[in-house]
Amino acid sequence: MRLIPLKNAVQVSRWAASYIVKKINEFQPTAEKPFVLGLPTGSTPLQTYKELIKLYQQGKVSFKNVVTFNMDEYVGLPQDHEQSYHTFMWQNFFNHVDVQAENVNILNGNTPDHDVECRLYEEKIRSYGKIHLFMGGVGSDGHIAFNEPGSSLSSRTRIKTLTEDTLIANSRFFDNDLTKVPKYALTIGVATLLDAEEVLILATGHNKALALQAGVEGCVNHLWTISALQMHTKAILVCDEPATQEL
Ligand code: GLP
Repeated sequence: MRLIPLKNAVQVSRWAASYIVKKINEFQPTAEKPFVLGLPTGSTPLQTYKELIKLYQQGKVSFKNVVTFNMDEYVGLPQDHEQSYHTFMWQNFFNHVDVQAENVNILNGNTPDHDVECRLYEEKIRSYGKIHLFMGGVGSDGHIAFNEPGSSLSSRTRIKTLTEDTLIANSRFFDNDLTKVPKYALTIGVATLLDAEEVLILATGHNKALALQAGVEGCVNHLWTISALQMHTKAILVCDEPATQEL
């Protein structure tokens, strides 16, 4: 695992955005051979999306031949709800770049059959061979996507019950009202993430320091799913100074 400690969150987002752009450009994607990019939601990647949009506007990258797969989506929240991950992605990124709508993949949290939805998602990823670069954030309890503590490290895309900690953390987006936070989500599994050719995780702020410590210095275990990155041959953790404080 490569750990890249930087001074602050702005530097983290610039580093991440320019790394993604470099990877896409080196790949020279075409319609027949698209670059496959895994993407997260959350507050941490917001600034990276802004940087990516800037680089796109400066003509330094095109997303025309980029296929995207998002990590997760809430169950039962209408797609056009202001807190759905669909809304998040379109508002904060897709609407501002030249990505093609048919190349965007986000789990449908309103499907009548979660198992089929999750199986088809895995199959669709496989139909492209693999995800070339998967960017992600991390929860303060070390979860990746919605692979909550206790998730199997061999898990695949599936429905997950969110933990009390996650519900509390995410209630800030739902008027601080726990009863409004969806209790379930569809999420890629730990093994789905590990299948990606490269994984890029962003961690900023002191509230991520314990997760970073568990991920970097702890043993690989299913209680801190970030620790599974230690088994990946091309995992990069980019973090700011406050996130390194427990190392
Ligand atoms: C949610 C998302 C994760 C994200 C985490 C941390 O649980 N499913 O993908 O990494 O929140 O979010 P934030 O970046 O807002 O701290």
